[in-house]
Amino acid sequence: MENRKVNYPINPIIKNRWSPRSMTGEEMSDEELMPLFEAARFAPSSYNGQPWKFLYAKKNTSSWDTFFDLMIDFNKSWTKNAAALVVVVSRTLFEHNNKPERTHSFDTGAAWMSLALEGTSRGYVVHGMEGFDYDKAKKVLHIPDDYNVEAMIAIGKLAPKEKLPKELQEREIPSPRKPLSEIISEGSF
Ligand SMILES: Cc1cc2nc3c(=O)[nH]c(=O)nc-3n(C[C@H](O)[C@H](O)[C@H](O)COP(=O)(O)O)c2cc1C
Repeated sequence: MENRKVNYPINPIIKNRWSPRSMTGEEMSDEELMPLFEAARFAPSSYNGQPWKFLYAKKNTSSWDTFFDLMIDFNKSWTKNAAALVVVVSRTLFEHNNKPERTHSFDTGAAWMSLALEGTSRGYVVHGMEGFDYDKAKKVLHIPDDYNVEAMIAIGKLAPKEKLPKELQEREIPSPRKPLSEIISEGSF
């Protein structure tokens, strides 16, 4: 936690969430997995539109290979030990009037963070990914045109870093952050 020093005390779950890659390769039951999606439900969204949808495949099921094959080789090298792979999509139009929802990605980002925090608090790996084929995902998962593919997530049971390929072991550490002064600006930009 060397890289996770704070200037002001914050809720530890926020500071301590990170994106490990080492997973045991064990399956997760629905009792273990569903609470993470449950947490996502409660994210805030513009007009309470809830534009997010989470498509998932569990290990050792018929849809696993379809999700796994979407990823770049680097992500395949460690997600082979995940228990679930998730493709996060968001509807670009409001349900109540079919007009564009400007904040569909923003809202869906909040939902992913709820999921990540719930997973972290339960001791699971919850790791976001953009290293996959977005166009292929749209096609093979039959995602309608009014949905945007946002990201993938690997979920699994945390393992010691020694379970990772050698070159990934040294990267298995919480990352640093920009100083607060770089991300805020009082008044104008
Ligand atoms: C939307 C998104 C896409 C990401 N894509 C990848 C990826 O394809 N492969 C990977 O190993 N990590 C990926 N990451 C993990 C980030 O590198 C990581 O979140 C970032 O370095 C901050 O570290 P932390 O999550 O441990 O705090 C992604 C994270 C997010 C949120």
